Amino acid sequence: MAFSRRDFLTTAVVGSLSLTLQGQQSKQDLPQAAGSGIPGKRPIIISASNGEPYLEDAFGMLRGGADTLDAALRVVRGPEDDPDDDSVGLGGLPNEEGVVELDACCMHGPTRRAGAVGGVRNIKNVSLVAKAVMNHTAHVMLVGEGAEQFAVAQGFPRENLLTERSRKIWQLWKEYQSDRDWWGPGPADPKFQFPTPPHSEVWRERIRGLQQKAADLGIAPEFRLQAIARVLVPPTGTIHCSALNAKGEISGCTTTSGLAFKLPGRVGDSPIIGAGCYTDQDVGSAGATGSGEENIKVAGAHTIVENMRHGMAPLDAGMDALKRIARNYNNDMNRLKYVDMTYYILRKDGVYAGVSLWEGYTPWPWEKPELKPHRIAVHDGTRRLEKTVSLFKGYSQDFPAYPNLRPELLKEIPSKD
Ligand code: GLY
Repeated sequence: MAFSRRDFLTTAVVGSLSLTLQGQQSKQDLPQAAGSGIPGKRPIIISASNGEPYLEDAFGMLRGGADTLDAALRVVRGPEDDPDDDSVGLGGLPNEEGVVELDACCMHGPTRRAGAVGGVRNIKNVSLVAKAVMNHTAHVMLVGEGAEQFAVAQGFPRENLLTERSRKIWQLWKEYQSDRDWWGPGPADPKFQFPTPPHSEVWRERIRGLQQKAADLGIAPEFRLQAIARVLVPPTGTIHCSALNAKGEISGCTTTSGLAFKLPGRVGDSPIIGAGCYTDQDVGSAGATGSGEENIKVAGAHTIVENMRHGMAPLDAGMDALKRIARNYNNDMNRLKYVDMTYYILRKDGVYAGVSLWEGYTPWPWEKPELKPHRIAVHDGTRRLEKTVSLFKGYSQDFPAYPNLRPELLKEIPSKD
């Protein structure tokens, strides 16, 4: 899943570099990484890593002459339909009141049109609703109740999007919450209070408490640690996809359930044309996953496409957008360590790049014990996942902040079943 789980690695390897701008990663460091200048191929389709299982179908559609937007929508519909992907569509993690609110947008290069929806409840495939807004209205964006009514009028079924699994995670979050919600101030606020990591014994106790609550709520033992991780570090999962056919037609779309446990009505970057996605038939396409608030402030996808229009390579165009995010924090690494962002970039000639503010995140106890890089999924005849190129070396820190809960720490906690 394309979580922006923000875990800051403080090992000797990267620790001394990651708090300075000298920690910026150079392209030479990563000759194999996406965006390293390998000539482009067409057709090609790129997406966030959670789109990878659906690229085969979508690439086949492109080869068979399908419309580029339909191919991109095929990819993002996969996670929207998957109840176990809790970052998007059905089963997406809800807002603080326990209601799933979804955002999406799309841009169709060949006809230079766009559609978007924000804060939609009860409709699973909001990416398709965004396309319906594009095709069946004279508007570009519908939000809230109006968007839901429009979707129903277009034949989309109303359904309960809150799966039992996501409801229980939300309930665990509600029970855990005290001063750790989204009512601010966030790291961009001058009044932001840098948290002091409590003694690890405090955290052991806190996690024991969460484990007990998770057991009381009936969360399956094998999913308990994952549920606790989502409570401690609410994710901003999302999926973006851009598709380019052999003729050079290009389209893009982005869809999300947004920031977990957000304030009702909060809309992130994903449905904002120019932030979560931007496609220009003359230039290329870009999209984003990560901190929605930061991406809106730099109009990330539009910035990248405009950079490419003015001659920058996809990789440099993306790096420039990331530097603008850093500039918004006056390059203050004590704050930037709480932010993360990944861009997926596809130029009209098939050259692509995946770039991110940080390299990735450290694994949770149920994952392989190795660092998890941010990745871009690509299919240009060969389906693969590639590491992104990051602006900063190292791994961003969880927000709200807490000390690194290493696997050993969690393993020490006895099961209460
Ligand atoms: N990037 C997804 C969000 O912040 O809503």
